[in-house]
Amino acid sequence: MNHAIKNFEEYERIYNKSISDPESFWAEVAEGFHWRKKWDKVLEWDFTKPEVKWFINGKLNITENCLDRHLEKRGNQTAIIWEPNDPKEQAKHITYKELYGKVCQAANMLKRLGVKKGDRVCIYLPMIPELAYAMMACARIGAVHSVVFAGFSARSLIDRITDAGCKIVLTADGGYRGAKTIDLKGIMDEALQQCSEVEKVVVVDHVHSNPEIKQGRDLWWHDEISKVNEECEAEEMDAEDLLYILYTSGSTGRPKGMVHTIGGYMVYTDYTFRTTFQYQEGQVYWCTADIGWVTGHSYIIYGPLSAGATTVMFEGVPSWPDWGRFWQVIERHRINILYTAPTAIRALAKAPLHFVEAYDLSSLKVLGSVGEPINEEAWHWYNKNIGKGNCPIVDTYWQTETGGVMLSPIAGITKTKPGFATFPLPGVQPVIMNDGGLEVKGNKVEGRLAIQFPWPAMARTIYGDHKRFKDTYFSTFPGKYFTGDGSKRDEEGYYRITGRVDDIIIVSGHNLGTAEVESAIDEHVEVCETAVVGYPHDVKGQGIYAFVICYEKPKEEEKLRKEIIDTVSKIIGPIAKPDKIQFVSGLPKTRSGKIMRRILRKIAEGDTSNLGDVTTLLDPTVVDEIKEGAL
Ligand code: WT7
Repeated sequence: MNHAIKNFEEYERIYNKSISDPESFWAEVAEGFHWRKKWDKVLEWDFTKPEVKWFINGKLNITENCLDRHLEKRGNQTAIIWEPNDPKEQAKHITYKELYGKVCQAANMLKRLGVKKGDRVCIYLPMIPELAYAMMACARIGAVHSVVFAGFSARSLIDRITDAGCKIVLTADGGYRGAKTIDLKGIMDEALQQCSEVEKVVVVDHVHSNPEIKQGRDLWWHDEISKVNEECEAEEMDAEDLLYILYTSGSTGRPKGMVHTIGGYMVYTDYTFRTTFQYQEGQVYWCTADIGWVTGHSYIIYGPLSAGATTVMFEGVPSWPDWGRFWQVIERHRINILYTAPTAIRALAKAPLHFVEAYDLSSLKVLGSVGEPINEEAWHWYNKNIGKGNCPIVDTYWQTETGGVMLSPIAGITKTKPGFATFPLPGVQPVIMNDGGLEVKGNKVEGRLAIQFPWPAMARTIYGDHKRFKDTYFSTFPGKYFTGDGSKRDEEGYYRITGRVDDIIIVSGHNLGTAEVESAIDEHVEVCETAVVGYPHDVKGQGIYAFVICYEKPKEEEKLRKEIIDTVSKIIGPIAKPDKIQFVSGLPKTRSGKIMRRILRKIAEGDTSNLGDVTTLLDPTVVDEIKEGAL
């Protein structure tokens, strides 16, 4: 199906149809795929339970859509361009035919190791082709992948492996990130001391670090695949069978294992990929995210491959060997569509412009942004210096939970406004709610963003905890999905996301729960209690500010700060390291013991002029102390 939209009127027409008759709209989109058996009914839903099913009784395998169906027409076209960390090394061009063979081979390997339909497989790999093979190998045989970002710590791995009940783990000896080598196998070994249910660990020999191999448990990827061939019949799956679990931070408690199912997710990621970027046959597309996050799942792997695009996978970082690395990759592979995050744009904008000017970026047609609100300055820099004023910028708003883009301009069609995600994509029905739980209609309004109708890629549950799924997303506004974000609709009906309204902070585009960071800090023996808030940070978007009470007044503050940072790094991962740690003797609490984060947020922002009413606090004097010691 051709999803090119000619003009804004056509977008409006398609949008209106998708709202007035969602079932026939999505049925038409879904026709374009390879189904072993067509669905009986498009949609059944009830947001009070909540229960959502798309393409009921449809049978398919997503890898037949991402691989097999392309073989005839574009078997020799490059499916994945893998750009290694080191620019001196050769990129790999993997054709659809080769990718098909590699995925089938990895699928046969998993089968030989006893993996069955429905089993969960943990994947802890750097950005190397085996990561793509591994995910689709799971999907090929009906296993459920649970990818854990290769920057997460042993403790984070333990939580995720245990929660999903993974018996097989796929990893590498290590991964490169610029000048650094990460000891992935070492981290995995540490985690597995606490995960006795893991039976087999398959290790990719990537950095050749010659890690310790535990006999009977650890196997080399290259040995295992040499035992099997490159043909593997795809398992017939139900549209509502699980495709994957992916963990995301919650505002309280442990990370939530978001569950995505096959049929709706496939249809939606493919459709939104083509629509948002107005992808044209033959274009080269690069999403700079790590596949460990949902952006990589939906828009490096499944969406682009289903659409038959050439998708780039980059192992490195933007700053190494120098700040020209991204632009070099674009020139090298003549990239047409670039999809990256505001935090990367801000960091790149700080580097001298000659790093950009050294490369030919004339292949670029469309630019994308995702992960957090893009500030106007970054938007203009991106537009002027990277797009040369000729490339539409699509500011795509979505979440791990939504599976795909929800609000975004359509490239070249929607008139953009810096900082605005503009309008909902076809099929998406956003509403703005006030604190009283009522919808605010019309333009020039502000409130909390909810979605009042299901879309095909929405998460179906939290793995093993449906009650938490309901409580988190469907109880704030009964009958509606609550995003956790604030939003404005301006006088022209454009949506702008104003940021989280719960205790989640977005650091460099990564979603972190303040409670999660607090409990990590609390694990330091000297720490008694902690409150964490976000504050504006010029590169990361939000930085982490921790107010820490110690059992005894710290003697060497700097040393203790370092230790606390190491503790957080060990427990969650380096992404959660606090930027500022202020030692305090008390926290502003209400009489019922609730921390007044509003006050701490103001102090962290450096705005102490108007802290609002502090008289209801148990001990108002602590506020002055905190204000004075603010960093
Ligand atoms: C949260 C979801 C979607 C993949 C990456 C993040 C924020 C995301 C935007 C945007 C403003 C954005 C929201 C959202 N967010 N994109 N274009 N404009 N805010 O996925 O880790 O699940 O985080 O990221 O606050 O709720 P995630």
